[in-house]
Amino acid sequence: MHQTLTRNIPVSGPWITDHEVGYVTDAARNAWQEHAGVYHDRFEARFAAWVGRRHAIALPSCTSAIHLALAALDIGPGDEVIVPEITWIASAAPIVYVGATPVFADIDPATWCLCPESLQRAITPNTRAVIAVDVYGGLPDMAAIEAVTEPRGIPVIEDAAEAIGAEQRGRRAGSFGLAGVFSFHGSKTLTTGEGGMLVTDDETLRNRCLMLRDHGRAPGDTLFVNTVFAYKYRMSAMQAAMGLAQLERADEIVDRKRAILEWYEEDLGAVDGLRLNPHPPDGRGGAWMVTATWDERFEIDKHGLAAQLSKAGIDTRPFFHPLSSLPACADLPSARGARERNPVAYQLAPRGINLPSGLQLTRDDVRYVAEKLRRILRVHRHRE
Ligand SMILES: Cc1ncc(COP(=O)(O)O)c(C=O)c1O
Repeated sequence: MHQTLTRNIPVSGPWITDHEVGYVTDAARNAWQEHAGVYHDRFEARFAAWVGRRHAIALPSCTSAIHLALAALDIGPGDEVIVPEITWIASAAPIVYVGATPVFADIDPATWCLCPESLQRAITPNTRAVIAVDVYGGLPDMAAIEAVTEPRGIPVIEDAAEAIGAEQRGRRAGSFGLAGVFSFHGSKTLTTGEGGMLVTDDETLRNRCLMLRDHGRAPGDTLFVNTVFAYKYRMSAMQAAMGLAQLERADEIVDRKRAILEWYEEDLGAVDGLRLNPHPPDGRGGAWMVTATWDERFEIDKHGLAAQLSKAGIDTRPFFHPLSSLPACADLPSARGARERNPVAYQLAPRGINLPSGLQLTRDDVRYVAEKLRRILRVHRHRE
């Protein structure tokens, strides 16, 4: 019998309950004038404590958090900032906003995150910061990265946009380096629709960020005196209310993400030549996006696989393209020769895909996706 397409499985999606709706409704009704900051205060204090940092600043996005951190460090023209090849462009774009130059380092095949040896090779006298990215819910080997950066006094910004809930050596993602940054975009584990957070233990950095995100007004200023031209980076009270409600449910939400990854591991773990998210060294991943990579024995790339899964009603995303391969980066000096300098990123990127990982997924959905994936890979397996 002809089987019609009955499934439509999105790649991501949040888990929103009456708890979130209740807080957002209350904020919409009451968080104005002298009450405008009540949800921000609660969200920031609880978020800082949850990550294990002294300070948290709620922001409109993770992109703005990275921008603020770089601006607060006075990074600008002539400076270089090292970023891994494999990440969303938002990790690198703020380097360009401040007039500095992104320098691309390779990833470690064991973590899919910044490779400490490649990082070391990328350092020059102009290096002013490193953005270490927690890719797809995993973590780089932070101890090895710190061993490279700390003796040289190079600050690390941990881009934990994708890794809420991940841990390493008993510390949560976002607690490494000078500052950690998070995203609450609608696709992320915890969401506020759009939103971000910057966390740090450093008082000076915090105060500079507070000043720069508020058109150059010193923290606590009531006289409306702008000390410099700066930015307007604030989250709304409704978003902060949503974030607080999500954070109060963080453990169950992260547990569900991990359960989804485990379901895929059960269904796909035995496929020779296929690999799912690496588990971070000395820790646990946050399982934000279940990601599959496959070796050369399968004669299909990520776009071919995505097209075939799409016919079965399965939405996916391509594994990040190496940043240096993107048209946006074509004129950057670090893009020249990057394929040879950063071979792991270039080898992995064409054969990787994000599988549906939304929080509404059922066990049966995962079985369906895994079965379709196995069938497509079988057809494309090179015959030895
Ligand atoms: C690694 C990484 N960094 C930064 C961002 C930017 O987050 P936002 O969309 O909140 O600016 C994202 C979001 O997609 C991301 O995945």
